[in-house]
Amino acid sequence: MKLDFPVEQMVKQRHSVRTYQQTNPISEADKEKLMTYAKALSNPFGVPVSFHLLETKDSNAKKLGTYGVIKGTKAYIGATVPAGALSLEAVGYDFEKLILYATNLGIGTCWLAGTFDRNAFASAIGVKKDEQFPAISPIGYAAEKKSLTESLFRKTLKSNQRKNWSELFFKDSFHTPLTEADAGEYASPLELLRLAPSATNKQPWRIVLSNGVYHFYGQIDSSKTAEHPETIERVDVGIGASHFHLAALEKGLSGRFEKLSDVTIASPKELRYLFSWIPERK
Ligand SMILES: Cc1cc2nc3c(=O)[nH]c(=O)nc-3n(C[C@H](O)[C@H](O)[C@H](O)COP(=O)(O)O)c2cc1C
Repeated sequence: MKLDFPVEQMVKQRHSVRTYQQTNPISEADKEKLMTYAKALSNPFGVPVSFHLLETKDSNAKKLGTYGVIKGTKAYIGATVPAGALSLEAVGYDFEKLILYATNLGIGTCWLAGTFDRNAFASAIGVKKDEQFPAISPIGYAAEKKSLTESLFRKTLKSNQRKNWSELFFKDSFHTPLTEADAGEYASPLELLRLAPSATNKQPWRIVLSNGVYHFYGQIDSSKTAEHPETIERVDVGIGASHFHLAALEKGLSGRFEKLSDVTIASPKELRYLFSWIPERK
């Protein structure tokens, strides 16, 4: 399958950019490329995600504010989705694919789900009542030097580090770690999932391989209840699934994502089963 960018290379190249070149704003041509690509995106969860281009008046985003976290750009993209099953996972999947595409064009991005004025952005987009609005990203060209705030963020969140395989991937039960040798041809898709970005660098994805099927779980904040099921961890797992799927496609591995109703693996209580990857039998 022909992919739009070299997946492994872009996954390794991407990092959050919070400081942009103020004197060299993103070009009209690049904005157009991004929005054309965004409009054509679709995800394996079958949920339509909408992308919106927003331009603030002042480059330090005082009006559509980011609490001083993002510096030097006026342009943002926001994602909205109709509320429903796997909607947040779909946003994670599609938005991350857009971010990897942007990385390939030399455009900097940074997932923002917390440090932005959600109400101001939501009203600028015109988010509807039955829609979820989980995240935005600034777009522009990375400045040579990071702001102090950006350096502090990276240090505090340990943004250059990721959890080990043994903490994330399991075989048959949550008691047995999955090794790269066990994963075989799926070692690369799992490794690229492991490198994915997540809110506060939490890396809430956990995967169990059982009978040839990869079951995806999210470590979900237990304070969220049935009435408030919106959790950013579901977006994170969608981002991980995007890396996993694109890497699998790059390796010529096919299959499908499906939410199964008969997964009976005993899991720690903070983990919630979300969906599975069923490889196509050869
Ligand atoms: C869903 C999501 C939400 C995020 N929200 C914020 C945010 O509100 N503010 C921020 O500065 N960074 C945010 N980040 C960026 C993460 O802190 C960052 O991805 C992580 O520390 C790993 O660093 P890296 O992206 O450079 O690999 C978010 C990332 C994701 C995936």
